[in-house]
Amino acid sequence: MNDASPRKVLFSGIQPSGMLTLGHIAGALRNWVALQHQYECYFCVVDLHALTVRQVPANLRRWTLDCAAMYLAAGIEPAHATIFVQSHVPAHAELAWVLSTFTGFGEASRMTQFKEKSVQHADNVNVGLFAYPILMAADILLYQTELVPVGEDQKQHLELTRDLAQRFNNAYSPTFTVPEPYIPTYGARLMSLQDPRKKMSKSDPNHNATIFLVDDNDAIRRKIQRAVTDSGTTITYDPEHRPGISNLIEIYHLASGEPIEAIVERFRDASYAAFKAAVADALVAYLEPVRTRFQQIRSDEGSLAQLLVEGARRAARVAERTLRNVYRKVGLWRPQY
Ligand code: TRP
Repeated sequence: MNDASPRKVLFSGIQPSGMLTLGHIAGALRNWVALQHQYECYFCVVDLHALTVRQVPANLRRWTLDCAAMYLAAGIEPAHATIFVQSHVPAHAELAWVLSTFTGFGEASRMTQFKEKSVQHADNVNVGLFAYPILMAADILLYQTELVPVGEDQKQHLELTRDLAQRFNNAYSPTFTVPEPYIPTYGARLMSLQDPRKKMSKSDPNHNATIFLVDDNDAIRRKIQRAVTDSGTTITYDPEHRPGISNLIEIYHLASGEPIEAIVERFRDASYAAFKAAVADALVAYLEPVRTRFQQIRSDEGSLAQLLVEGARRAARVAERTLRNVYRKVGLWRPQY
């Protein structure tokens, strides 16, 4: 185990299967930025996971760099956190193989995300999609991770990760730290602007449903103006019954930092149109500096690549130590340790 590290280890990742969205800032990145000072953080671009859905190779390459650049633009500092690309550290795929031999077929079949994605991508229900949570377990366990910030939809995968860690530890000897889910301080889950009962997603075919972090000011304004709202005329926060307007209040809150109650109080008698204009203004002001930083970072591909090489080196040193232990314990022979 990695006893030398004084700070608790935290691991998280995003798939580079599209451009990052406002939902990623709300649900992940702004928490990561706060956490990087407190924990030993690994923030991974999980490109191998993205392969479970067929990708256009050039897009996957571009999105991988975009994703890393967006981590930086959002405020992750390489001096505090290790940023790297999953496929640059072979130990992820290697540990996933070993862990797959500890995972029951029935156990993996029960993963609700697998069942959902099998329906969504009925034309390509591949074994990788089935094994997806095992690769995620490998990501987490390689670093002796204690905390994993994940959304509701990933809790079951984290539960599997814990089961696998305990199973392996019991079968051999303590090898893996058993990770805990991290419930973030800011837990906002942004919804689709076109169907506010669905989560905002980077792969939504309707681009008006999603604010991408690279959207220009005009696009941001247009999407907010066209956002589906609920019947009624008042600005009230009630995610269950008025998901559309509540989502816009949530976005205003994210962009301005103003408490929800204060927003509702101030706009109570405003028209939907006036409120949407205010949301758009706040969001434009909030995203413009992020986008500018992103463009600066992304335009210097050499420096970005260098940073990712360095991140992968740091990650690999830790990951390989865990992997070697695992290989030895299960009985894989090698000439010297
Ligand atoms: N499955 C996660 C998601 O879609 C992404 C992910 C892969 C991840 N490996 C991880 C998240 C490890 C946290 C830790 O959101």
